[in-house]
Amino acid sequence: MLRARDIPIKSPDEVEKMRVAGRMAAEVLDMITEYVKPGVTTDELNTICHEHITVKQDATPAPLNYRGFPKSICTSLNHQVCHGIPGDRALKKKDIVNIDITVIKDGFHGDTSRMFCVGEPTVIGRRVCEVAHTALFKGIEVVKPGTTLGDIGHAIQQYAEGERCSVVREYCGHGIGKQFHEEPQILHYGKAGEGLAVQAGMVFTIEPMINAGKRHVKLLPDDWTVVTKDRSLSAQWEHTVLVTETGYELLTLSPAES
Ligand code: MF3
Ligand code: CO
Ligand code: CO
Repeated sequence: MLRARDIPIKSPDEVEKMRVAGRMAAEVLDMITEYVKPGVTTDELNTICHEHITVKQDATPAPLNYRGFPKSICTSLNHQVCHGIPGDRALKKKDIVNIDITVIKDGFHGDTSRMFCVGEPTVIGRRVCEVAHTALFKGIEVVKPGTTLGDIGHAIQQYAEGERCSVVREYCGHGIGKQFHEEPQILHYGKAGEGLAVQAGMVFTIEPMINAGKRHVKLLPDDWTVVTKDRSLSAQWEHTVLVTETGYELLTLSPAES
């Protein structure tokens, strides 16, 4: 049973370090945006991000070697839900791709992802990206001390299912700090009022995976890439969120966004 006292509360010093790490992760997404064009391979995107994180930011890409993950970023294309491994697949027009960046700076993690449309998206491609983005913010906007984890999941699920999309159940957001994945798990579905109440100083990600079709997923034989069972398109956006005394602060807003 998860108890509130098992969840790390960040000190002001730790929060400041997480702001730095979060801003860096977001800045990588800003930097990579101009490279997300037809013809580029996801491995080339990985290399550009890896160099930027290690050389320019003097930071560490958290995914590399994390539980054996072989690359520095995740790239999840079209019907891939999450944890796609960069490779020699070139992007083409109408692809939608999630790029998920996690950096470690000064011992703390910042974790954020966005969707990118390659050229003009299809109607359904654009729509699933927009629904996933709004779903993320439906979850974020209820965050304040006393909000329960069920309230967050409920806000996301209610909205996404109301848009005739589905919410992936097998993967969730997570506490984050010195560890990449800490308590608590942040489910993107649930019942209002259920579960643990969040407190000021908690930091966690919200990262709903939203499918245009049914919610069911399967794992590819590479043991990482998660895809929709019905091959419908899937989209995901992620922010690292600090609970403040009055609400929330997004730690992964980029200089451009904030
Ligand atoms: N960044 C992902 C998340 O949002 C986790 C990726 S784990 C990896 O939690 F090993 F695939 F990198
Ligand atoms: Co995450
Ligand atoms: Co992530």
